[in-house]
Amino acid sequence: MKKDSPAPTNHKELLDWVNETVQLCKPDSVYWCNGSEEEYASFCEDLVQKGTFIRLNPEKRPNSFACFSDPSDVARVEDRTYICSLRKEDAGPTNNWVTPKEMKATLRPLLDGCMKGRTMYVIPFSMGPVGSPLAHIGVQITDSEYVVVNMKIMTRMGSKVLDVLGTEGEYVKCMHTLGAPLAEGQADVKWPCNPTVKYIVHYPEERAIVSYGSGYGGNALLGKKCFALRIASTMARDEGWLAEHMLILGAESPQGEKTYIGAAFPSACGKTNFSMLIPPAEFEGWKITTVGDDIAWIKPREDGRLFAINPEAGYFGVAPGTNMKTNPNAMITIQSNTIFTNVAITPDGDVWWEGMTKEIPEGLTDWTGKPYDPTSGKPAAHANSRFTAPAYQNPVIDPNWEKPEGVRIRAFIFGGRRSTTVPLVYQAFNWNFGVYMASTMGSETTAAAFGEQGKVRRDPFAMLPFCGYHMADYFNHWLQLGRELQSPPRIFGVNWFRKDAEGNFLWPGFSDNMRVLKWVIDRVRGRVGAVESPIGWMPRYENMDWTGSDFSPEQFDEIMTIDREEWKRELLGHQELFERMYDQLPKEYLFMRQLLLSGLWRSPAKWHMEADEA
Ligand code: GTP
Ligand code: SPV
Ligand code: MN
Repeated sequence: MKKDSPAPTNHKELLDWVNETVQLCKPDSVYWCNGSEEEYASFCEDLVQKGTFIRLNPEKRPNSFACFSDPSDVARVEDRTYICSLRKEDAGPTNNWVTPKEMKATLRPLLDGCMKGRTMYVIPFSMGPVGSPLAHIGVQITDSEYVVVNMKIMTRMGSKVLDVLGTEGEYVKCMHTLGAPLAEGQADVKWPCNPTVKYIVHYPEERAIVSYGSGYGGNALLGKKCFALRIASTMARDEGWLAEHMLILGAESPQGEKTYIGAAFPSACGKTNFSMLIPPAEFEGWKITTVGDDIAWIKPREDGRLFAINPEAGYFGVAPGTNMKTNPNAMITIQSNTIFTNVAITPDGDVWWEGMTKEIPEGLTDWTGKPYDPTSGKPAAHANSRFTAPAYQNPVIDPNWEKPEGVRIRAFIFGGRRSTTVPLVYQAFNWNFGVYMASTMGSETTAAAFGEQGKVRRDPFAMLPFCGYHMADYFNHWLQLGRELQSPPRIFGVNWFRKDAEGNFLWPGFSDNMRVLKWVIDRVRGRVGAVESPIGWMPRYENMDWTGSDFSPEQFDEIMTIDREEWKRELLGHQELFERMYDQLPKEYLFMRQLLLSGLWRSPAKWHMEADEA
């Protein structure tokens, strides 16, 4: 627990907000975070003393810690997430909504005294390089030390941000509490939270967030999904830019030509992996570098080109499935200075999760803190277990990742997790069809959100849980932007997850995704062919680079086939989505759906490229 510290700012409005929050939440003390390394170390030490953090073996994971959350607090809670705009129409049909007035009346008694027995921390932070014209400032209030240390890794935080904020600067108010006050003399638990009551609330007009009851991930690190996506998407709508659930990667060819690309995949569908991709050995001279792995802020310039920054400074990445083959760069990134949440711990003080090694090590402690029984049928690490690691430790970090003006985006890729129907890769006919494709994207749900798994749901732009306003207004915003761009980025759809009848992945994925990326880049640069399919442009087998691969033309055909009946069902899914947001749906969408349908109508039951060409 920290002592009181004086407020290091003369920003009157900020001081007023902090004081009001103190009056309401009644913490024992208030501490303003300065963001120094010493401060970080002392918070980590406090967390070790409390039993929340386990210091990992310094020889294996220097300066790294593991912790286990409460079993009720393991992922984002979409059904407890609200967009409290003044008007219901502004939140739209895909967001939970109540009036701000009603929500404030609900929250007030919960917040009253919610920090009793705890310290209130004030965290000034910048999303984006400090002072960048594309960056925005937030101030998070929290009663969680775990949040403080995670925010230190995930954002640029501390005194330097207050300097930029000055006495009048604008910031997003991010109020967070565990909702677990301590009575006089009551001992704390290792992972305080409110096991029954959770609220993740956004007031878009006020640019403010209130999060109650959870200490986990996107529920609690408010710079991430709450600010950088939900609030920022409304700012972006008002100001003519984009806040997207996208990785940004740079691809450098052997000739030194550099292409930056933004790619949106839903949660736990491969963004971190793709952003750190290592090309197959045979792709000599190609290099992929990471600008960001989860969120992109993208602004059009006067000249009609799009430039993007990664607003984050760290990675809150999915642990399971990460290993030296699938994502060696992530494995190197997390070798030190990393916080692991809900992974398993080995007897020698290192971490483990499903898919890290083939053999399950003996003597594991599982994510509930108990000795692991491999015959239990349960995983040792939680399916949504995560690492928090500084971006600068990524061995393939892009040299321009902190460039204040951002990097120029030349293509967008959209992809969900689909066992059937959607081919490995295709290119939209034009910007409008691309926006349509992204809007109607479907994906099987994952452990990144609390609740049912594996069900296909429409996840427009991978933004369904993250758009801070009416989803159909958001579609219109994208269409409008396209009208203003000089030469709009090309738009592609991908699916790494198609399976055969036995449930095996048809595509090797990971490094091999480079083959798809290369075709995308070659299309952007206008130097490779494609075939017109009923849903877009597709590579022929020979349009892709198969050097070093034994993936056969037959296998390629299997993963590129368009099944007419499956696609008709897919278009029914589009219709269902459109009916939900009929009030604001772009009129173009009805026509584009009709055009796709008529294309499918004249196509054979199973559309194959070769047959079509004959
Ligand atoms: P969020 O942080 O939740 O937004 O997730 P993300 O989109 O960054 O997903 P991430 O890259 O962490 O991948 C999630 C899971 O998908 C991991 O278990 C990966 O191993 C797996 N994955 C990633 N890329 C591929 C791929 O090309 N093929 C297959 N089969 N699995 C993949
Ligand atoms: C996601 O769910 O898309 C994440 C993890 O990136 S969280 O920060 O918890 O939202
Ligand atoms: Mn994400």
